Amino acid sequence: FSLKSYNTFGVEAKSRFFTEVNTIDKLKEALNFAETQSLQLLFLGGGSNILLTKDFDGLAIQLNLRGISEEHINENEVWVTAKAGENWHEFVMFCLQKNYGGLENLSLIPGNVGTSPMQNIGAYGTEIKDIFISCKVLDLENLELKTFTLDQCRFGYRDSIFKQEGKGRYVILEVTFKLTQKDHLIKTEYGAIKSELENLGIENPTIQDVSRAVINIRQSKLPNPKEIGNAGSFFKNPTIPLAQFEALKQQFENIQGYPNGEMVKVPAGWLIEQCGWKGKQIGNVASHKLQSLVIINATGNATGKEIFDFSTEIINSVKEKFGIELEREVNII
Ligand code: EPU
Repeated sequence: FSLKSYNTFGVEAKSRFFTEVNTIDKLKEALNFAETQSLQLLFLGGGSNILLTKDFDGLAIQLNLRGISEEHINENEVWVTAKAGENWHEFVMFCLQKNYGGLENLSLIPGNVGTSPMQNIGAYGTEIKDIFISCKVLDLENLELKTFTLDQCRFGYRDSIFKQEGKGRYVILEVTFKLTQKDHLIKTEYGAIKSELENLGIENPTIQDVSRAVINIRQSKLPNPKEIGNAGSFFKNPTIPLAQFEALKQQFENIQGYPNGEMVKVPAGWLIEQCGWKGKQIGNVASHKLQSLVIINATGNATGKEIFDFSTEIINSVKEKFGIELEREVNII
């Protein structure tokens, strides 16, 4: 079964078996089949954060559980639960139409709701941990349903328990967010949002205005995966000790950094650009010309292996020039 249309890089890879499930019972049936055939499992959400480097000799399961429900807690607070298969951006738009605040800075992020807790998706000053209540999961060890609260998810920058100890053990079925109905917390401190709102001539932005600004910024520099295969940022922004940052600053006076205690987060896009990768193409693969942190399937014919090798070359050159080891953000299969 071809997985080409199930990964936003648009690379060709086949899985031995494939099924799409839209209920928990169907999911359990699929798991049962995999168990009896001793098959490995691959869970697919929106396919926006994976790189398939080879064929998969097991069962790929596309999680397609749908539905959104609401619980009004008080005049201001509403808890909204979306099932894993809901498209993230459509969910954000649904909430904005109802004037529920909290998700606007996360507009236009590719992928589905079910994968959002995996890496605590974040952009433009918000991460889902800021509005997260809980998620319901299926524990593959005993097929029991379990709820993870905010604390139990151990969210960090592009990180959660689902990428650490819980890796491969839990299937996220639905996520509940705590949103506002009246007293919205408007977050415009991220520089690019401020200047985009100025461009639009908006002084007192609503949550819908913030969403529009974010959409404009993203569309201006991030390639649309429907047009050019990509998985957003390919690497995480590295965090290095303050002393190492100070030393680098002596040598590269333009280096940027966002201090966080004794550590400094450095924009990987800048490091990659300085190594000459921005817009550079090798074979079918390139670093995006407007945002070098994004690796693209430039011709549409790239293989996962080619993209992986390209990313290794980037890691090597950043390591050589700056002594910083970039870590891939995308899940390599
Ligand atoms: N920069 C360069 N050259 C580049 C790219 C960036 O010099 O080619 C510099 C920019 O000038 C800017 C800084 O790096 O000063 C940061 O750039 P940007 O605001 O574009 O954000 P980012 O750190 O590159 C992160 C997230 C994005 C998210 C944006 C906005 C990570 C790995 N990526 O990118 O998330 O949209 O911030 O909040 O943290 C994703 O995860 O797929 C993703 C797109």
